Amino acid sequence: MSTTADYTEKIPNNVNLHEDRRLQRALESWQPNFLHWWQTMGPTLPTQDVYLRTAINVGRDGWAQFGHVAMPEYRWGIFLAERDPGRKVGFGEHKGEPVWDKVPGEYRAELQRLIVIQGDTEPASVEQQRNLGATAPSLYDLRNLFQVNVEEGRHLWAMVYLLHAYFGREGREEAEELLHRNSGSLDSPRILGAFNEETPDWLSFYMFTYFTDRDGKYQLGTLKESAFDPLSRTCEFMLKEEAHHMMVGTTGVDRIVQRTVEVMREHDTDDVAGLGAIPLPVIQKYINFHYSVSLDLFGGDTSTNVANYYTAGLKGRWLEDRRKDDHKLASDSIMVDALLEEARTGEPSIGQTEVSALVGLNTDLRREYIADCQGGVKRWNRILEEGGVRQRLKLPHVAFNRKVGAFAGIEATPDGEQVPASEWQHRQGQWLPTDVDKTYVRSLMQPVHQRGKIAAWIAPPRNGINGQPFDYDYVHLS
Ligand SMILES: [Fe+2]
Ligand SMILES: [Fe+2]
Repeated sequence: MSTTADYTEKIPNNVNLHEDRRLQRALESWQPNFLHWWQTMGPTLPTQDVYLRTAINVGRDGWAQFGHVAMPEYRWGIFLAERDPGRKVGFGEHKGEPVWDKVPGEYRAELQRLIVIQGDTEPASVEQQRNLGATAPSLYDLRNLFQVNVEEGRHLWAMVYLLHAYFGREGREEAEELLHRNSGSLDSPRILGAFNEETPDWLSFYMFTYFTDRDGKYQLGTLKESAFDPLSRTCEFMLKEEAHHMMVGTTGVDRIVQRTVEVMREHDTDDVAGLGAIPLPVIQKYINFHYSVSLDLFGGDTSTNVANYYTAGLKGRWLEDRRKDDHKLASDSIMVDALLEEARTGEPSIGQTEVSALVGLNTDLRREYIADCQGGVKRWNRILEEGGVRQRLKLPHVAFNRKVGAFAGIEATPDGEQVPASEWQHRQGQWLPTDVDKTYVRSLMQPVHQRGKIAAWIAPPRNGINGQPFDYDYVHLS
């Protein structure tokens, strides 16, 4: 196994694809379908070329190169992190056994399902973001959008490689389906709810890359622990690229908050809507929305499927090897969110209940994610504090606006106070973006495609990309 990609091949890869002609031919015949998908469902803004990072190596130093590339000619490749020949299964009933280079027959269906679900999210986000180029606030932001898009395309390749290489005819059929389902489609939507929501403006884009891509990071983190070694190595490398997507989201929201604070101070008012900035209450509503739909992506609070995946060694916990327990969890327990019956009224109320740790693994992962999400809110509040503004942003309660899990059947305020459906109906506009909010945000989305210029609703970034200045020619439009 070489770590450097072979660029003389049609499909750059570090998996010695040329040694398996059948597989190579199968992937080469999927390639034009992928390109057709990219042309029809990918970014709509016409460009000549974009200053992009391309993965070329999985080693410790210099895994990527930067340069202007015409996007359809981006070298989407197949990269697995380096193999650790002594790697052992880290959890579940196979703990301590050597990891698997092939798919064990008894886990075939489950592994295929996990890969398809992960794979489905990758092209979905490209579809959701396809029209954003037309309203980019700067060439720097435009370039970051396209970088995220091409890398999500590469993540699709990563999952399709596994399907083709290890799951036979069914795997190839699933790979086709990944291009046929489309975000928001009525007949064949993407598998998970959040990936069928629109990303109509750049505030949504940064919230998506902050909250929803971060769900991706946590899912990849659990699959990186998998006993199925090719899946583990694939996810390990994807996580490297994912870090940039998180950065785009985190700093994107930073810069919006920064600009809002500046305008608030300049005009000594909280009401910046007429002044071309995004008001803090609107930012809060977008946080409420994107955070709550992203919490749903972690699935039910309890799940016997996920317990079985863990015991079988298919999907571990976030940072499994740092956990101080037996990594089998057969006799451990966890408190999970639940609706409890209130003793006095008999009505369901927000609470927690104890379940076996295995069954509560979705909750474990969701909590890791929530703790991570707090980091962004802290940053944004620091910007508010340093700007001398008294307002603060926060994450809403876990019961707020949930469609999956224990709280799907009730309504709760962002503070976690349970409210009747009728009250939710007439108050939800205080907590979630209304049509008025969305229309206002969209009205700000006027493209700034001149080098070195930036829209008025967002502050410029502190740093450019790869040591280049902010006013670098990141994108050449056509
Ligand atoms: Fe991804
Ligand atoms: Fe991503």
